[in-house]
Amino acid sequence: MASYVKHGVAFLFILAVLSTPAASVYTLTDSGGLGARFDGVGGLSGGGATSRLLVSYPEPYRSQILDYLFKPNFGAALQILKVEIGGDAQSTDGSEPSHMHSAADRNYTRGYEWWLMREAKKRNPAVRLYALPWAFPGWVGGGEAFPYHRPETTAGYIVDWILGAKSVHNLDIDYVGIWNERIHDVTYIKTLRKTLDDNKLGHVNIVAPDGGWVQISKDIMADPELAAAVDVIGSHYPGTHSPPMAQQTGKTLWSSEDFSTINNGTGASCWARILNQNYVNGHMTSTIAWNLIASYYDDLPFPRSGLMTANQPWSGHYEVSDPIWVTAHTTHFTSPGWQYLKGVGHLDGGGSYVALTDGKEGLTIVIEAMTHQYSQCVRPLLPPYEVKPGQAATFQLGGAFENITRLHVWYSKLIGDRTVHFQSQDDKIVSGGKFSMEVAENCLYTLTTVKEAPPKIYPKSPASAPFPLPYKDKFDGPADSSEAPYFADQTGVFELYVNESSSDHSHTLRQNITERPIVWCNDADSTISVIGDYNWSNVTVSCDLMVESGGGAFVAARVDRGGCGVSQARGVFFWLLEDDANNWAVSSDIDRNDILGQGKVNATIVGQWHKLSIFAKGDSIAGSLNGKVLFDITDVELPSKKGFAAIGTLGLQKVQFDNFSVDKAK
Ligand SMILES: *[C@@H]1O[C@H](CO)[C@@H](O)[C@H](O)[C@H]1NC(C)=O
Ligand SMILES: *[C@@H]1O[C@H](CO)[C@@H](O)[C@H](O)[C@H]1NC(C)=O
Ligand SMILES: *[C@@H]1O[C@H](CO)[C@@H](O)[C@H](O)[C@H]1NC(C)=O
Ligand SMILES: *[C@@H]1O[C@H](CO)[C@@H](O)[C@H](O)[C@H]1NC(C)=O
Ligand SMILES: *[C@@H]1O[C@H](CO)[C@@H](O)[C@H](O)[C@H]1NC(C)=O
Ligand SMILES: *[C@@H]1O[C@H](CO)[C@@H](O)[C@H](O)[C@H]1NC(C)=O
Ligand SMILES: *[C@@H]1O[C@H](CO)[C@@H](O)[C@H](O)[C@H]1NC(C)=O
Ligand SMILES: *[C@@H]1O[C@H](CO)[C@@H](O)[C@H](O)[C@H]1NC(C)=O
Ligand SMILES: *[C@@H]1O[C@H](CO)[C@@H](O)[C@H](O)[C@H]1NC(C)=O
Repeated sequence: MASYVKHGVAFLFILAVLSTPAASVYTLTDSGGLGARFDGVGGLSGGGATSRLLVSYPEPYRSQILDYLFKPNFGAALQILKVEIGGDAQSTDGSEPSHMHSAADRNYTRGYEWWLMREAKKRNPAVRLYALPWAFPGWVGGGEAFPYHRPETTAGYIVDWILGAKSVHNLDIDYVGIWNERIHDVTYIKTLRKTLDDNKLGHVNIVAPDGGWVQISKDIMADPELAAAVDVIGSHYPGTHSPPMAQQTGKTLWSSEDFSTINNGTGASCWARILNQNYVNGHMTSTIAWNLIASYYDDLPFPRSGLMTANQPWSGHYEVSDPIWVTAHTTHFTSPGWQYLKGVGHLDGGGSYVALTDGKEGLTIVIEAMTHQYSQCVRPLLPPYEVKPGQAATFQLGGAFENITRLHVWYSKLIGDRTVHFQSQDDKIVSGGKFSMEVAENCLYTLTTVKEAPPKIYPKSPASAPFPLPYKDKFDGPADSSEAPYFADQTGVFELYVNESSSDHSHTLRQNITERPIVWCNDADSTISVIGDYNWSNVTVSCDLMVESGGGAFVAARVDRGGCGVSQARGVFFWLLEDDANNWAVSSDIDRNDILGQGKVNATIVGQWHKLSIFAKGDSIAGSLNGKVLFDITDVELPSKKGFAAIGTLGLQKVQFDNFSVDKAK
């Protein structure tokens, strides 16, 4: 009997060793002190125009979407909202308006970022706000396409935005940056600090440089005054690592822009991996996703690279994509101000774990085991690594956590046939401060003392539908923003405009900037705002327009691109020009290099309203001015067979548009 038992035990022991290797043990304790302060998970609206279509959503969908982003304990429950300070220029998926088109101009209601910040605060008063410019209106540079020649002017311009946020919207801005992904300037940073302080904005923290680590770290080490001015070093797409030099500055380190990946299971896994490992590998205490929400047309750059997608305001359709639920795994069970535990790190079989505490008995552990194959972000390159299929892990809790007896469990499986999103599971029993679990690949786990009922999500949004035709806009409002619904400015700023003294064109859309901004990328020489559906091929586009003082304007179909490539846009552009030789033209590109036809009509261009119509069907294009056909071309080899409808101006001129319409070509 005795020998049988002995034998049996030995046999079972061998079996256990062969089938499940001994679990690795990870110790989580606060004895010996805590790690860094956690600053929150964020989303970035703008950089550029990434929330453009959201503001036009009908209720109740618009509020539902905002709830998924900001409402505590609901969806992403974001802790930081970063926004672009509009600079009147293209900043990736469009341009956002400045609050000061000119030095004398001030308007704190343009665009949608003010609105978005208010909606975020309404849902979560503790959400932190962070603002950063990509571009600047031209006057800031004083004739130079550079914002640092006149540091006081630039700092004054930025501080004016922060003061406007407070006085008009009662919004307190917590963080402000320098110049997105461009060179920083030490004198400017110090001047910005001083200007903030002089305006009783000492509580506004400076993040610099929103670019790379190296130069700012060197500058901070060499210059105590700069070190005092900068609160956070913010780096972009750090690949979860920060160099020792950055850590030696003693500054708080953030991944102040990250992600940029299509929001399917792979994007969600990228997000899960970097949310943990930006701290584990790089000591970064905040990670901010570009972008907050993919509310721009799919055929602009980086489609669907937001935490969720909502780019069909006409149908109300939106998608609560996986990264929303990945975010929830951290944000529902932590708050900025919690601290990481020391000793967090990698799992022996691949993947990582972090643990955070409120400094009392609160404990939240987030564990991810994302595989290399399924968790690659768009950048930077992810060096290869292995994740074991089902690794056993034992966690030993000590210190303040030694008497925890159970932890609530939340689970997501991001890849494969039966994916699971943020599912509440049975509590994990902790016995003698110890618990064990199997960590499956591409799965995400939160174990926490924080109790929460599963969120009651909204019913599925309406079905997806193409942009409806016919479409008409007389710009008569009422408007939710300074911009006309669905128009996405790619160069220039198109604003709804009211002229009370006009009887037939009292409400128009007006291109309203006249000076080239300090651009962030490659704006076109002409201004352009696109609308509709990239698949539009056989359409008529019609619009009334009035060139206010010079230059010219166009109506276009089949515009094949926007974003930083907009200066290369192709399509069918029908121009009305203030030109003695040819006052109309049709070109297949926005730069009018490829002229398909041109001529002269008896018409006064400046100060008069004209109706321009384009007709495109297959290889035929035609155009009319005030009902009179000016060109009718068949068998034309066009470089662009389909694309957006658009309006725009020749150069930076004030032009008004009215009576816009698109329909299928009959
Ligand atoms: C997500 O989309 C990317 C880009 O289209 C694709 O390469 C990847 O396989 C997709 N991932 C999943 C899990 O579908
Ligand atoms: C855990 O419980 C023991 C026994 O009651 C007690 O002595 C100890 O202080 C407790 N630890 C903590 C961190 O509360
Ligand atoms: C500011 O801009 C908004 C939106 O374009 C407009 O409605 C409002 O009249 C402007 N306010 C001033 C003072 O110009
Ligand atoms: C157009 O820009 C000017 C400043 O150049 C500004 O005063 C005016 O309010 C703007 N129009 C609208 C509708 O915002
Ligand atoms: C406003 O309307 C009046 C009357 O039609 C016109 O004379 C004036 O030029 C318009 N102003 C602008 C800026 O369009
Ligand atoms: C708008 O266009 C329609 C026809 O397309 C025309 O009947 C109407 O007069 C136009 N409105 C204005 C204000 O010009
Ligand atoms: C355009 O057409 C392609 C191919 O049919 C389709 O995959 C895509 O979803 C369409 N885009 C839109 C915006 O409808
Ligand atoms: C051009 O139009 C004006 C006003 O409509 C008219 O007076 C003039 O005779 C026209 N000229 C020609 C050459 O048709
Ligand atoms: C556009 O019209 C042409 C000519 O009638 C036709 O061949 C083509 O199939 C149409 N394209 C679409 C997308 O309907």
